Amino acid sequence: MADSNKLIIFDTTLRDGEQSPGASMTKDEKIRIARQLERLKVDVIEAGFAASSPGDFESIKAISGIIKDSIVCSLSRANDKDISRAAEALAPAQRKRIHTFIATSPLHMEKKLRMLPDQVYEQARQAVRFARQFTDDVEFSPEDGSRSDMDFLCRVLEGVIAEGATTINFADTVGYGVPELYGTMLRTLRERIPNSDKAVWSVHCHNDLGMAVANSLAGVMIGGARQIECTINGLGERAGNTALEEIVMAVRTRKDHFNLELGIDATQIVPTSKLVSQITGFAVQPNKAVVGANAFAHASGIHQDGILKARDTYEIMRAEDVGWSANKIVLGKLSGRNAFKQRLEELGIKLESESEVNAAFARFKELADRKSEIFDEDIMALVSDEQQSHDREHYNFVSLSQQSETGEKPTARVTFSIEGKEVTCEGNGNGPVDAIVNAIETQTQSGAELLLFSVNAITTGTQSQGEVTMRLSKSGRIVNGVGADLDIVVASAKAYLAALNKLHSKTEKLNPQM
Ligand code: KIV
Ligand code: ZN
Repeated sequence: MADSNKLIIFDTTLRDGEQSPGASMTKDEKIRIARQLERLKVDVIEAGFAASSPGDFESIKAISGIIKDSIVCSLSRANDKDISRAAEALAPAQRKRIHTFIATSPLHMEKKLRMLPDQVYEQARQAVRFARQFTDDVEFSPEDGSRSDMDFLCRVLEGVIAEGATTINFADTVGYGVPELYGTMLRTLRERIPNSDKAVWSVHCHNDLGMAVANSLAGVMIGGARQIECTINGLGERAGNTALEEIVMAVRTRKDHFNLELGIDATQIVPTSKLVSQITGFAVQPNKAVVGANAFAHASGIHQDGILKARDTYEIMRAEDVGWSANKIVLGKLSGRNAFKQRLEELGIKLESESEVNAAFARFKELADRKSEIFDEDIMALVSDEQQSHDREHYNFVSLSQQSETGEKPTARVTFSIEGKEVTCEGNGNGPVDAIVNAIETQTQSGAELLLFSVNAITTGTQSQGEVTMRLSKSGRIVNGVGADLDIVVASAKAYLAALNKLHSKTEKLNPQM
């Protein structure tokens, strides 16, 4: 199986990506991302971890009912209860996969699981045997695989393949791997395990040492893996996961070396990156490969001269091939509802009802009155805004006025609704944003700690909307709120209220690796 030239792209943005503190998403947000992942043509979408929370369960179920082309997958720990829950959530899927895992390193077995190796071996086999009752497509991961004992790994993996595991995912859970060693370990496993040819081998790398992409590719080239697990923008816990966009463009650009086939539509990479960043509030660094704002900007005079003479002097990929659209103006003040609706469809945004389309169109008109040129990014931001007020109506922004003057303490007056009832509050602070946060806190008294405040321009130019992310922490929970507006102080108020709404929703989620 490993000799095939097809490289399977397994996207885990909605599961491992979401484990990143503050990246939690609502069901509607996950559905939007899943639809976009299908447009990107990923082979497998890991939609969540069904047993972790009712919210995750419902999201997987909804995604299973919507996605037609990609395989939909749920993570589950290696026990019957988790696996049954995964199977139930995946029931509507046309093509489904259960992904079960258990830690195999001495450290994890002793300190975390408090289990003996023989018990882990039995539990892994039993989990795969049970999962096979629900689907023929079962993936098994030895968690912390790269720090596990090779003899023990061989025994466990041979056992789970004998039980019917069809994919074996060699996890570098803590990003400890080094390309040559990781790739060689995988090759050794495949060589030593007698039934290794009965499974597709997969790599799953974390980026703690900045080597997730290099390790994944070594797993493919040295180890013979034919599936890579990755996330959009490399989103994930700590330093993140393998970045999908980097893998795809490395394999495509260096086909001479990798000689692998991909099913991905690369022109959907940038739209997907922007959507994930906007929904999660994790901004993409400008110099990020492929999807960073500067990835195709040639600032130095020498480079520009080279590019003008012949594009490939300094360009190994073309911006348009990965979906950079050079800020196309798509709509304006005179655009009607039909044009707006059509653009939503072209962007792959499906609003559930006509009343949602109407509400989004009303927002569009409001924006077009204040901003003459509307870009795709503006449309995506206003749809997110609309979905936020639709999803979490505990707090809703209404209006604000704010005064700042050199040498004076800024003041703010904010009106917002709490469960539909409008309140107006006032506050001052060291800066305008501090003033609006203090004003809101006079009513909400959340006492949350602000961990991060960032502002990014959605498009270029001073006419651009500002997108603000506020990351709040309270009682051990971390959430991100995102707000966009032409006025960055208004965007800040929206972001703060969006974060408070997430804290208010009290969605507790189990971390699968705890
Ligand atoms: O990093 C990891 O080990 C995981 C597993 C659950 C595959 O995410
Ligand atoms: Zn992981």
